[in-house]
Amino acid sequence: MVIGSGAREHALAWAIAKSAHVTVTPGNPGIAAHGIACVETPATELEADLFVIGPDQEVVDGLADDLRAQGKAVVGPGADGARLEGSKAFMKEFLESAGVPSAAFGVFDDEVRAVAYLRTMKPPYVVKTDGLAAGKGVLVTHDLAEAEGDVREKLSGHVFAGAGRTVVIEEALDGPECSLMVLCDGTHVVTLASSQDFKRVGDANRGANTGGMGAYAPMTSMDAPHLEEFMETIVTPTLRELQRRDIDYRGVLYAGIMLTTQGPKLLEYNARFGDPETQVLVPLYGDGLFQLLHDVATGQLDATPPRAVGAAVTVVLAAHGYPASPRRGDLIEGLGVDGQLAEQVDGVTVFHAGTAINDEGQFVTNGGRVVAVTAVGDTVAQARGRAYDAASLITFAGRVMRTDIALAPL
Ligand code: AMP
Ligand code: GLY
Repeated sequence: MVIGSGAREHALAWAIAKSAHVTVTPGNPGIAAHGIACVETPATELEADLFVIGPDQEVVDGLADDLRAQGKAVVGPGADGARLEGSKAFMKEFLESAGVPSAAFGVFDDEVRAVAYLRTMKPPYVVKTDGLAAGKGVLVTHDLAEAEGDVREKLSGHVFAGAGRTVVIEEALDGPECSLMVLCDGTHVVTLASSQDFKRVGDANRGANTGGMGAYAPMTSMDAPHLEEFMETIVTPTLRELQRRDIDYRGVLYAGIMLTTQGPKLLEYNARFGDPETQVLVPLYGDGLFQLLHDVATGQLDATPPRAVGAAVTVVLAAHGYPASPRRGDLIEGLGVDGQLAEQVDGVTVFHAGTAINDEGQFVTNGGRVVAVTAVGDTVAQARGRAYDAASLITFAGRVMRTDIALAPL
């Protein structure tokens, strides 16, 4: 059972379906078009050998605890472990006691003290909302006045009401970013291939932060010595700290790492699979994903990392007005009636993020990110060519697409 309705969950279900029978709740029309059952029933009322929770909110809200209380095998930490994602203030304090390198920081719920701290920092200024904010709670700016305004706005509670009235102000770090997804069964960890996400809406990393406009895997420069360093300085101390706090973490620990000149530093933890990184990770593991995730849920993870084969690139097509105010209802052409036209390009799978089917049975836009056009290949370059070939076939009014995803892979 896969829980969620985006392209990440589509990719998970598609990969698990290679070796198991999958249902998705609630799913989406693209998942259904791939012949995978989608149901509206809440997860707690469903039976399955394995539950995989996709979205951050459900994990942070403790859905894994509810399911485990029913005796179910779950990929996803309980609410205790999910605080690593649910509260940036908690995460920073956790990293400090674990000894994981990360940006210097201050946590504030008082405006005067927050602004005073901000004025001691060097630009660019980094201001974060404490709680979940759908990838939109982070401001990085050279403009002190803008940063101060952002602090006031966040502390007012008007923008991110549910995400609390606490801000984290951080030292700015610089360097390329790497997404490292680590599977953890409570005791053992294995890393999946490294990947890179493109967060800004525009080419050359310009424009607003988004949920992610594309990704590729693996980052070939992240060879064995790099991964060993990540394990030693980030993952192992984190696991030790989780155990010290009696947190039985069974799920995906997603480390957002910045490769600074002073070595790798942790930007953030997420308590679930990345989106869109999952769309480029799962195609690399053939039919092995179900077994791997089952081992995570049941505490039987093998210490040998699974072998990733080839490379993958995903290009997100987003709706007109994304990310500020995406428009819904634009007719999507190029998917075909069964959703599989663009998939005739070699190596391509189209994962749906925000689509709906209108009264005439046609696919229309129904969310910010609409589809993630994913291709595999022997190399990132080959996968990239295929993904863009397929993406060019899928059109709708106001389509937003970056043209430089994986153009210069690291
Ligand atoms: P987060 O949600 O914490 O990963 O932040 C979203 C994005 O903001 C990251 O992927 C970075 O590109 C950027 N960012 C976050 N924290 C910092 C920092 N301390 N220094 C520079 N950039 C940052
Ligand atoms: N790709 C960023 C995230 O999943 O949070």
